[in-house]
Amino acid sequence: MNILLFGKTGQVGWELQRSLAPLGNIIAVDVQSTEYCGDFSNPEGVAETVRRVKPDVIVNAAAHTAVDKAESERDFAQLLNATSVEAIAKEAEKINAWLIHYSTDYVFPGDGDKPWMETDVTAPLNTYGETKLAGEIAVQQNCTKHLIFRTSWVFAGKGNNFAKTMLRLAKDREELSIINDQYGAPTGAELLADCTAHAINKAIVNPEVAGLYHLVASGTTTWFDYANLVFAEAKAAGLELAAMKTNPVPTSAYPTPAQRPHNSRLDTTKFQKTFGLTLPSWDSGVKRMLAEIFAASNTQ
Ligand SMILES: NC(=O)c1ccc[n+]([C@@H]2O[C@H](COP(=O)([O-])OP(=O)(O)OC[C@H]3O[C@@H](n4cnc5c(N)ncnc54)[C@H](OP(=O)(O)O)[C@@H]3O)[C@@H](O)[C@H]2O)c1
Repeated sequence: MNILLFGKTGQVGWELQRSLAPLGNIIAVDVQSTEYCGDFSNPEGVAETVRRVKPDVIVNAAAHTAVDKAESERDFAQLLNATSVEAIAKEAEKINAWLIHYSTDYVFPGDGDKPWMETDVTAPLNTYGETKLAGEIAVQQNCTKHLIFRTSWVFAGKGNNFAKTMLRLAKDREELSIINDQYGAPTGAELLADCTAHAINKAIVNPEVAGLYHLVASGTTTWFDYANLVFAEAKAAGLELAAMKTNPVPTSAYPTPAQRPHNSRLDTTKFQKTFGLTLPSWDSGVKRMLAEIFAASNTQ
């Protein structure tokens, strides 16, 4: 099986390079690739890549993910999150390939406290959410064999992440105010990549599973509780942190260009039933990532 992976160096893309490896031959590209175009600001270029590679499966982990920046560069976000996605979807259809694509809980208005179902009405609060929703629709309308996974609060050991920021701030701050009225499930890029590989394996033999799924770790937390877990794990691992006080604050305490949803909970029943998989609790993935960060800092 030939797999074309777009966005190979992002959080999820990096993990996909590992998890997709046992499924077949991977051609992985990113914005800097030269042999094949992986630049989503060039829809014709990425379409040409699909035509040349002729993959059985395309996995798209590339996106404009800078949520606040998207507010001031709508056209660019639309180009990356929707226009190029549409170009890829059309080429995928022509060669009867599978297209696996990621989306976000930001397609929802974020009110209430019930986990969103795939069938719930969308109403994005910000430009990022609007362009990601346009990307979903482009996939659904142009490529029959598709899997779209809506996820939330993605973290990975690679690069910067919320936990690392909290640990850095805890070194010299006496007090930290952290948002406590946004609810969601931190979801590891590793988990997303592993679930994607399992889902592809099933989809290849059962094309009727094509569709839209919510895919996040189990359980719910807030940024405040997430941060406190990070500090508790750090202390248990013997890291020296300042005797810092954490204050729970509302979203309104940190005004940002893009409005954030309060309710990012996603119902994953459809994914778990369809693919026969069990999604672990969010904190098991976070604790594992923290253990790796602490182990790496001990060797420096
Ligand atoms: N991160 C989250 O919390 C979150 C939540 C819900 C859904 N998602 C979705 O999950 C998927 C994977 O996200 P992620 O967390 O892995 O994001 P990420 O780490 O930001 O990865 C996105 C990748 O796209 C690349 N990219 C930027 N501009 C590009 C261009 N012009 N052409 C090609 N690639 C370009 C980025 O490169 P640079 O790093 O060089 O810019 C990065 O490697 C995306 O569809 C995202 O919308 C993410």
